[in-house]
Amino acid sequence: MYMGFTIAQLLLLSLISDSMKTEFDAILAKKIFSKDDIVALLSTTDENDVGKLFEKSCSVKKEYVGSEVYLRGLLEFSNVCRKNCFYCGIRSDNKQIHRYSIPDEEIKEIVLHAWKNNYGSMVFQSGERNDAVFIEHVIDILKYSKKITNNEIGITLSCGEQSEKTYQKLFDSGAHRYLLRIETSNEALYYKIHPENETHSFKARIEALRNLKKTGFQTGTGIMIGLPFQTIEDLADDLLFFKKNDIDMVGMGPYIEHKETPMYKYRKLLMPKTERFNLTLRMIAVLRIMMKDINIAASTALQAIDNEGRVKGLKAGANVIMPNLTPSAYIEDYFLYDNKPCLHENIGKYFKLLESSIHDAGDTIAYKKWGDSKHFFTRTSAR
Ligand code: 5AD
Ligand code: SF4
Repeated sequence: MYMGFTIAQLLLLSLISDSMKTEFDAILAKKIFSKDDIVALLSTTDENDVGKLFEKSCSVKKEYVGSEVYLRGLLEFSNVCRKNCFYCGIRSDNKQIHRYSIPDEEIKEIVLHAWKNNYGSMVFQSGERNDAVFIEHVIDILKYSKKITNNEIGITLSCGEQSEKTYQKLFDSGAHRYLLRIETSNEALYYKIHPENETHSFKARIEALRNLKKTGFQTGTGIMIGLPFQTIEDLADDLLFFKKNDIDMVGMGPYIEHKETPMYKYRKLLMPKTERFNLTLRMIAVLRIMMKDINIAASTALQAIDNEGRVKGLKAGANVIMPNLTPSAYIEDYFLYDNKPCLHENIGKYFKLLESSIHDAGDTIAYKKWGDSKHFFTRTSAR
């Protein structure tokens, strides 16, 4: 007898666990995952199985996208937003924050700083606005960023839903990748986390993603993980949504509550942060196995839960990292969620730390490269 178990019971337990392991291995070995397979992979918390999952996702990553991590300098150039998403700290109804738009001279300095420090790409992110003044401003930012870097800097935009015509203008002005998260592919859940009205329409979001691809953008989307009312089946559907829509880039991060938002009232329904974190890592790993040659970002929200969060994301299969270059004078007004890490990553010594932890994870940083999605070229040349 051991800890109250008879030998027969112990044998039975070990048989059960052996048969479960075999089942996990069998799923992992499949060429194509069904929804049930994905649910099983995401649901496992057995350390051994999770280890096997990461081993597989890392070998797929090495084979298909290599071990170079693509670097983008993230600049949150304005927090003015016309939307009111229930989860987001910069939603228009949050009057507690100061609204800003970084002056052009400062934006130019940051872009030059990034370029001189061998960043191949920038991500310009903002709240959503679709008035002409804003669009013209974004066009200016794109044009001068290209000009002052001898056309060398690659540009990803993340400025929300725009018309097809606007997307075309932005593309023609120098942006070539665009991020627009679907947030959840479950329409009913979408309306639990957004107001249901013309400004927040699930169908419009889908249409915008379609238009981005049509315009010729490398198209990125993504979701939040651990939302109230979200199920593992929803997350499996999200991964299948990325696959079905032949997406080039994905950014997924744990949902983190923010006090000044309507969704804060559901905080008691949430799984613990470490579980949201671990589930996000498993989502990255399963997605890497399903969509081998896409770009997957290790999101900042991972870092808000664990100070090695992004590097753990790389170890699970992500291949893009976006150090935040937003000046500290603005960063606190871009709190999408509580405890957003205030990383001063434009400062040399912090960057060195990040670089060495990336090396420790077995990866290297791709300097001076745009770091495009290989999948984009596969899908467009196959047309
Ligand atoms: N927790 C995690 N991610 C969030 N985002 C917005 N609010 C939160 C939050 N509370 C994400 C959304 C959005 C991206 C810019 O930031 O997915 O698309
Ligand atoms: Fe605005 Fe984006 Fe936040 Fe929604 S998630 S309120 S669109 S910044």
